[in-house]
Amino acid sequence: MKTVQSLKQCREIVATWRKEGASIGFVPTMGALHDAHLSLVRQSLRDGHKTIVSVFVNPKQFGPNEDYTTYPRVLDADAELLRGAGVHLLFAPTVEEMYPAGFATHVHVGGLTQFLCGATRSGHFEGVATVVTKLLNQVQADAAYFGEKDWQQLQVIKRLTADLDIATRIIGVPIMREDDGLALSSRNRYLNANDRAKAPLLNITLRSLAEDILAGGDIAALLKTAAHGLNENGFAVDYLEFADARLLSPLRNLDKSGRLFVAARIGGARLIDNWPVN
Ligand code: PAJ
Repeated sequence: MKTVQSLKQCREIVATWRKEGASIGFVPTMGALHDAHLSLVRQSLRDGHKTIVSVFVNPKQFGPNEDYTTYPRVLDADAELLRGAGVHLLFAPTVEEMYPAGFATHVHVGGLTQFLCGATRSGHFEGVATVVTKLLNQVQADAAYFGEKDWQQLQVIKRLTADLDIATRIIGVPIMREDDGLALSSRNRYLNANDRAKAPLLNITLRSLAEDILAGGDIAALLKTAAHGLNENGFAVDYLEFADARLLSPLRNLDKSGRLFVAARIGGARLIDNWPVN
């Protein structure tokens, strides 16, 4: 595995592979890698791609009161994991490389970004859309892999690649969970033992809500009771919603396009999860 920091080196390697007729798979990350990141990598490798992973903690997608400065940065450990997984290239650009002086262009995806995390994290999806557009243009992969844990992010990226005629295929990869149902996340390392013990309640709540909605319960009332239950158990709920899986707009009737979404803070961590209702 090679590691490069500059866009120029990254492009040179991709150009060599292209000449050899290789197909290219790309997994963008912010590092602090865990097994769910590696599940994206394994999918790319299984699909037969020369596989590139980027590690870049993107300042533009963090709000002023969020964890940009404390976000874990462990590039050596990340590189070790990626080498072990069989990754071909690690692209780890600096902030100056990504956003040189004078940088002034931002990608705003309308519509679906007004809901859920878009409503609670101002500017977040503009930061994600901007960096992902850049990364996709930089790497020019055949396919790029994104986790369904960040379901709304995945829909934003599908929307922007369709709208901006970016040729890279966007592939969604299922959520990887701990045995107790907690979705793997780099932010789980912020949880102390007490909060870690409570964290699975997020997924348990979504599963039982899905059953109650399918059984024909009143959706607004069910959501309200479930959010109250989470708050009673030490969470601070940002949102708990039943929404259209593609448009992310709220639904109040049982519809086969519906999916459950939650974001809640516990201890120092903001956790998200989502679950199908069908
Ligand atoms: P990051 O949080 O590092 O996640 C990188 C990728 O791993 C994302 O596509 C995310 O959905 C996926 N992932 C994380 N935990 C997962 C889990 N438990 N199951 C399945 N997939 C999981 O998401 C980002 O970085 C950034 O916003 C990025 C797209 C890199 C842009 O900066």
